[in-house]
Amino acid sequence: MDESIFPNVEVTRRTVIETGTTALLLSSLPHGVLASEPDQADRTPASIELLVNGHAHTLALDPRTTLLDALREHLTLTGTKKGCDHGQCGACTVLVDGRRVNSCLTLAVMHDGQSITTVEGLAFDQDLHPMQAAFVEHDGYQCGYCTSGQICSAVGMLAESREGMPSYVTADLIQPLTELSDNEIRERMSGNICRCAAYPNIVAAIKQAMGEQT
Ligand code: FES
Ligand code: FES
Repeated sequence: MDESIFPNVEVTRRTVIETGTTALLLSSLPHGVLASEPDQADRTPASIELLVNGHAHTLALDPRTTLLDALREHLTLTGTKKGCDHGQCGACTVLVDGRRVNSCLTLAVMHDGQSITTVEGLAFDQDLHPMQAAFVEHDGYQCGYCTSGQICSAVGMLAESREGMPSYVTADLIQPLTELSDNEIRERMSGNICRCAAYPNIVAAIKQAMGEQT
């Protein structure tokens, strides 16, 4: 037993069993052992530069700010959605230097100097990105909450595929895939959950966009 943590209590196996609770242990902990108190220095804003959708932004952020919160709360780019905030749904997917990333799982300071593309940055002036147009054409959504993440993920996924990246269901790791089967698309998009279950339409939209070589 670490006596520096439990200085005033003689804790034995019997005391714990007799009290039937861990309250004795918890109440005797020195202040700050369970909930460490962040040093004030840790909260010093960090100055970072992000190139978001082609525009340079200098931000002073709490170093604990996620990329998702930096985009939504500091740059008011609310097209990127917060679903689970735990890396489980994919609603927050953006492209970082062309690679898809769950922006709720990464800190903004880790992307100082990098290029971020959100759903707002995919269109060319008034023209939708082919992936966006395909989602509209195929009704690849119902409530739309997952849609920006689905679209960004699909754009990144096709780029990965073109570079020859295999997936878990790719049978031949030698021959490059010329086109993705429904199974490949479903596997590669499996990090993006749609609670409205618009999956058949999402797959159809991606296949169309794939044909247009987005
Ligand atoms: S909000 Fe990021 S994965 Fe769900
Ligand atoms: S369209 Fe509603 S969650 Fe996907």
